[in-house]
Amino acid sequence: MQKLIVHGGTKLRGEIELQGSKNSALPILAAAYLCSGKCVLHNCPKLTDIYAASRILNSLGCKCTFSGNTAEIIPSESDYAFISDELMREMRSSIIFLGALLGRHKKCTVSYPGGCELGPRPIDMHLAAFRKMGVEISENFGKVVCNVRKKVHGTKISLAFPSVGATENIMLCAVLAEGETIINNAAREPEIQDLAEFLRRCGAKIKGDGESRIVIEGVEKLGGCEYSVMSDRIACATYLSAVAGAGGEAIIHKACLNCIEPFISLLDQTGCSIYTLDEGIYVRSGLRLKAIESCIRTMPHPGFPTDAQAVFMAALLKSDGTSVFEENIFDCRYRHTDAMKKMGADIKVIGKTAVVQGVDRLYGANVEATDLRGGAAMVIAGLMAEGTTEVSKICYIDRGYEEIEVYLRKLGADIRRE
Ligand code: EPZ
Repeated sequence: MQKLIVHGGTKLRGEIELQGSKNSALPILAAAYLCSGKCVLHNCPKLTDIYAASRILNSLGCKCTFSGNTAEIIPSESDYAFISDELMREMRSSIIFLGALLGRHKKCTVSYPGGCELGPRPIDMHLAAFRKMGVEISENFGKVVCNVRKKVHGTKISLAFPSVGATENIMLCAVLAEGETIINNAAREPEIQDLAEFLRRCGAKIKGDGESRIVIEGVEKLGGCEYSVMSDRIACATYLSAVAGAGGEAIIHKACLNCIEPFISLLDQTGCSIYTLDEGIYVRSGLRLKAIESCIRTMPHPGFPTDAQAVFMAALLKSDGTSVFEENIFDCRYRHTDAMKKMGADIKVIGKTAVVQGVDRLYGANVEATDLRGGAAMVIAGLMAEGTTEVSKICYIDRGYEEIEVYLRKLGADIRRE
């Protein structure tokens, strides 16, 4: 079992180039299944979740190969439309392949993706939308069995919550459906726009992505395309939080400031100096960070991203004052706080609220990553602590961060993988 060994106390200083976005590459890989031509995907991050998605594509008859950060997907000739339990369980967001399967097949079966470290991951909104599009769905023994009598047809769908996955899944099912599909209360995350842009390059007719109302006109078929995935805005928030918490300065290339504007404005309130460069962000963190006066509420985009909650909390652990977090997206996304308290942090969790009282010192400890972003937050806390921190179960971290220790070493961190 690998672990990360972090020696804290060093200020960070250096430059990195951001990895491609996991949460954009995953739905785009699923979208490639809909294409009848070859797709070439650049800036694809080297992550275990990405390789899990490629195994699903290969199990469906595609030929998905990687060369560095470029993925090549040759379309499948087969009409096989079944994803095994094992493959579905490998990656929590594997349900994104259901929309793509429905875009091409009248019958398909996948197993329920199941819960994850953040709590249950229901797919009720996904399935309700597919049923409205003419899919007969039966759920039994953990399986989701889908049947379409004629062809999936467009319809008007109003999401009860702007679910990212449900919005993406509906888009994948709608691009080859009969007629027009309207998604009201759609998710507005930048990754939705990236997916829509990829699909348009392949010939899809999509408008309104990035807004709450997306309109998709079904087409007969999609060709292939060559596309470059957007950079990972959550990885950007992670490395900015690392510099803010540990102190120092850095340039993060290929960062898109607008994609994480709510995070940047809070980081600015801590007293960090932040400047936008041509294709990146410069950040400098000097004295002790100021605590955030207003409540930090995680919200759907363009609100503060839930994926940045843990890493920003880490940066504030030694701030001067009290900050209050409110996690509104996932049921249990404070599992990282136990490890932080073991390192000397002062955090009180009451339901969806976490009260963080800045302390003067943190101490290295042996901790276990609980989930993807929580694990990264523990690494940041380790950089801020005196002594050595060992973070185990880093398979969680490797799901979303490309060689996190290499990136942090480029910023001058004393960290190694064992
Ligand atoms: C995507 O997950 C991201 N994953 C998550 O990133 C991110 O935290 C989340 O969006 C919110 O931004 C990928 O893109 C691969 P949701 P997703 O559907 O699609 C509930 C990371 O760290 N819900 O917007 O699963 C759901 O339980 C990961 O990179 C239903 O109740 O998020 C959750 O509470 C973690 N029924 C809320 O909505 C449904 O049918 C938001 O979920 C669907 C969702």
